[in-house]
Amino acid sequence: KQRTVLLATEKAFAAGAVTKIESVVKAANYTLKKLENYKGKDDLLAAVEGADAMIIRSDIVDAAVLEKANQLKIVVRAGAGYDNIDLKACESKGVVAMNTPGQNANAVAELVFGMMIVSARNNFDGTSGFELVNREIAFYGFGAVARAVHKLAQGFGMKSFAYDPYIPADKIKEMGAEPVSSVAGLFEHQYVSLHVPLTDETKASINKALLSKMPKGGTLINTARVEVVHEADMLEVLSTRSDFCYLCDVAPKDIEPFKAAVGDKFGKRLIFTKKKMGAQTAEANDNAGVAAANQIVGFFEKGFEARHLEVSLADGCLEG
Ligand code: 3PG
Repeated sequence: KQRTVLLATEKAFAAGAVTKIESVVKAANYTLKKLENYKGKDDLLAAVEGADAMIIRSDIVDAAVLEKANQLKIVVRAGAGYDNIDLKACESKGVVAMNTPGQNANAVAELVFGMMIVSARNNFDGTSGFELVNREIAFYGFGAVARAVHKLAQGFGMKSFAYDPYIPADKIKEMGAEPVSSVAGLFEHQYVSLHVPLTDETKASINKALLSKMPKGGTLINTARVEVVHEADMLEVLSTRSDFCYLCDVAPKDIEPFKAAVGDKFGKRLIFTKKKMGAQTAEANDNAGVAAANQIVGFFEKGFEARHLEVSLADGCLEG
């Protein structure tokens, strides 16, 4: 029987990436079914029936989706993390879940610097900003994305610090960053960049106690998951500290009070995206999309070992 791979992306990949995914799928003699830019869950529920494999992005694959997906053997998130996949439901239905670690890393790193520069230059409003050279950036999680940001930071002449519970201090040092022994220790530096997955442990973990420790000009950069930050605490810190900045790839759930509190009409203290944009480059779409397609073909043709439930520990690190 010819296998069907469903590409289900509420936020579509670049057309070039879709063409490349399609050629990988066709070369294996499978069919690619596309559900791009879909509007609601019902569209997804209708499309999954009969699919043997799925490629998704931040699309939610929960028990209801898995229930309808009567042929599904494998779902691959073309990106980082598993927070949008119900891994327990996958396991009970015998569906393998994978992601594509590192494929989006450079795209996210460049977005981090884009936001930092816009903020440091006061969004080019005519006033004097500051330079990044000699400034300090601390990474919570030191996986592929954090390392890509660190590499750019070195180019900018910044000093890097990192904490990752899964990476020994000497390895962090070897990579040219200063190891920090606790999460709290990160918040002594001007920039803190989050690169942890969304888990029960990390959810809302970046709270007032941590944020209040940040020095003057303290800036939190969040290209991991918006839910990692305690929303009410962040709002309070932004409202009470006029020097504090929050740069976030995807807006907090309730953005209006944030805008009102900051009164930041030029977008220097509060920068956010409307849709998650970190991985939204032609290159990252190609990398992650093609990796996902290859992993699916590998799984069916060569029986690649299931890697689900490893939750991004592939290279021994946290990754957001
Ligand atoms: C990530 O790497 O953070 C995400 O997996 C990318 O999410 P997206 O594909 O929905 O943009």
